[in-house]
Amino acid sequence: MHNIIVLATNNKNKVKEFQEILKDSSVQIKCLQDYGPLPEAIEDGETFDDNAYKKSSHYARVLGLPCLADDSGLVVDALDGRPGVYSARYASDNATDMENCDKLLEEMKGQKNRSAHFQCVLSLATPGGPALTWEGRCDGEITTERRGESGFGYDPVFFYPDFGKTFAEVPMNTKSEVSHRGRAMAEFAGEVDKVLVWVRQRMEEIKPQKPDHKEFEHNDWSEERMV
Ligand code: IMP
Repeated sequence: MHNIIVLATNNKNKVKEFQEILKDSSVQIKCLQDYGPLPEAIEDGETFDDNAYKKSSHYARVLGLPCLADDSGLVVDALDGRPGVYSARYASDNATDMENCDKLLEEMKGQKNRSAHFQCVLSLATPGGPALTWEGRCDGEITTERRGESGFGYDPVFFYPDFGKTFAEVPMNTKSEVSHRGRAMAEFAGEVDKVLVWVRQRMEEIKPQKPDHKEFEHNDWSEERMV
């Protein structure tokens, strides 16, 4: 039996992480690429929560399937919470990870308070609107220079005290055990059976018409539709 949940991302690493976490459950994780070109969600929310829900509910409606989206970023105390929801485009709209890290190091020059945390919100939305959320947080400090080569984003400037290293200096699976995203995913995975019952009930409520194409016959939410 397969219960499809679409992960609202094209990031292959996130898809792999979820598939790994849910490998013993009946959930089959798909990603947006499995469904071809789709109208994109607009992420103009002011909180991680807003943006995660905007993404998950947009794709749930477009596909007529339960969709899971995450939104995450870095919150720096001395910068009043910046870069926050603007983490991906902190230095500029098309900033590279390195440009974002450099801008952060520049802004933090001379700052004594280096406390920061990564925050992640996971939102699972159904096509009718109702959604569930999970959160994960990971506390650390901003370094004074980039250190390490692995990971992405702000990993080279995020020092995790328990490791005595930056996130870019440890393997991905070590980071995932304590990271904001890893923690939110673990929360979700811990209650996945209950969540599936909840999703099934929400899908029943909207009772979509039977599709007249074969593509989704393997899917146990079975009666999904395209809009
Ligand atoms: P997204 O919501 O996962 O796309 O993340 C938005 C931005 O937050 C990314 O482009 C990164 O700059 C930053 N970010 C989120 N999670 C991490 C992480 O685990 N390590 C480093 N940077 C992260």
